[in-house]
Amino acid sequence: MRILHVSSECAPWAKSGGLGDVVGALPDALCRADDGVQAAVVMPFYRKAQVALAKRGLAPSDTGIVADVSLGPATARVRFLRLDRPGRAPVFFAANDAAFGRDGLYGYDDDSLRFILFSKAVVGVARELLGAPPHVIHCHDWHTGLIPGLVATNARALLPGTRTVMTVHNLAYQGICSKELLPLTGLSWDVFHLDAYEWFDHINLLKGGMALANAVTTVSPTYAREIQTPEFGAQLDGFLRRRRVFGILNGIDTEEWDPTSDPHLAAHYDADHLDGKRAVRAALLQRCGWSEQPEVPVLGVVSRMTAQKGLDLVLALISELYAFPARLVVLGTGVPRLEDGFRLAARHYGRNVRAQIAFDVPLSHALIAGCDALLVPSRFEPCGLTQMYAMRCGTVPIVHATGGLADTVRDPGDGGLAGGEGTGFAFGHPTAVGLRWAIGRAVRMFREHPEGWRTIQRTGMARDWSWSRSAADYLRLYRAL
Ligand code: ADP
Ligand code: GLC
Repeated sequence: MRILHVSSECAPWAKSGGLGDVVGALPDALCRADDGVQAAVVMPFYRKAQVALAKRGLAPSDTGIVADVSLGPATARVRFLRLDRPGRAPVFFAANDAAFGRDGLYGYDDDSLRFILFSKAVVGVARELLGAPPHVIHCHDWHTGLIPGLVATNARALLPGTRTVMTVHNLAYQGICSKELLPLTGLSWDVFHLDAYEWFDHINLLKGGMALANAVTTVSPTYAREIQTPEFGAQLDGFLRRRRVFGILNGIDTEEWDPTSDPHLAAHYDADHLDGKRAVRAALLQRCGWSEQPEVPVLGVVSRMTAQKGLDLVLALISELYAFPARLVVLGTGVPRLEDGFRLAARHYGRNVRAQIAFDVPLSHALIAGCDALLVPSRFEPCGLTQMYAMRCGTVPIVHATGGLADTVRDPGDGGLAGGEGTGFAFGHPTAVGLRWAIGRAVRMFREHPEGWRTIQRTGMARDWSWSRSAADYLRLYRAL
């Protein structure tokens, strides 16, 4: 079975969040799960990807495959490069310097057009990339939402047997653009209606992709249910209630996140030898310029700073940290309001707060493994990966019980947690009151019941977060299609 994953991100070549992690790991997991699977990824050849490849001394080869994509009066040429690494699924890069050779991944006025170009180019060459037409084109997020529509209509003759899967990693981003772009998409006006690409007289790429794909999935069972309600449906709940949405929980790359061997950590450890974690904690505190204070828990945050992530709730509690007592180390980038909020917090409450406003993968490892508890107070969270990284590293997550956070962090109450039945602290309402309550419980357990705390750490570390279970679920879905 040939599976082509199409995504705007794939770690370690370009990533802004969990999408990159997932697409960087899932194709390999599919190949491991079944010898008969040939999986590959295709992504844009961003400048960031060029730099990441050069840093590792890797040069993708030119496949000679090109797509000449007509965009109205103009034609854009996209060249396809290929990277092979031992034991890994190949990655194809779609190269067009004007569209992708820029400093950032997103945030440009012509983003819709850039991903229309990407999607059309991929559909045009999908037969050639894997040497034969893919059985399934697996599309990730709005950037690729045009593909199911093209495959179901105008490109049907090119890819007659190909099925499409549309995976929603985040319904908050839908790829909404002017209907004036429709003639450039390669779609006909027949699909500009309420049950396909039309949305309030605009094009909605994600919605059309979900409407015309052979299957729609999202990244946790709870989020699959939530997006069918007005509260989480981002104005598509009615549309989604009329479809089946499969919720398949993400896994994590357990090799990249492995405290027994992680090169970014000052020491290594496992569930039976937690002293190594104390050394990683000490290294983090030293980096912060703080003394060890073993009885004061270190709370961590590693996150995009957007409204989704609930970090305003953390800011609301900054002045109370000394009273718990607890210390806070934050790593993130995002909207200026939150970045400035944490900069200011670190300036005024420097005894308890450090903030690094940056995107720094090595530091994210040192922080997640080095802190005692990781805060993930997201208002909504399709899956969330950092809470799983935390548990894998013996760090206890404190989460708002929503989406994938509810599916991965089990909180049976303090007694149950200390008895080995749970993996973290969860609160039901995304308010500062809810978060304060959960942090309070965690701090009490940390100070007063260190044995109970160690039990929670070990329970989380013993859980299997690998991709094997989810890969099997995706394979079942592909076969059914
Ligand atoms: P989302 O995709 O919504 O951002 P996830 O929890 O699924 O949330 O994935 C976030 C990914 O991005 C994780 O791998 C996390 O470690 C990483 N990440 C987020 N912010 C930063 C940062 N400032 N520096 C390094 N890695 C980050
Ligand atoms: C999105 C979601 C996040 C999820 C990630 C990977 O960015 O916000 O919850 O873990 O995609 O699926």
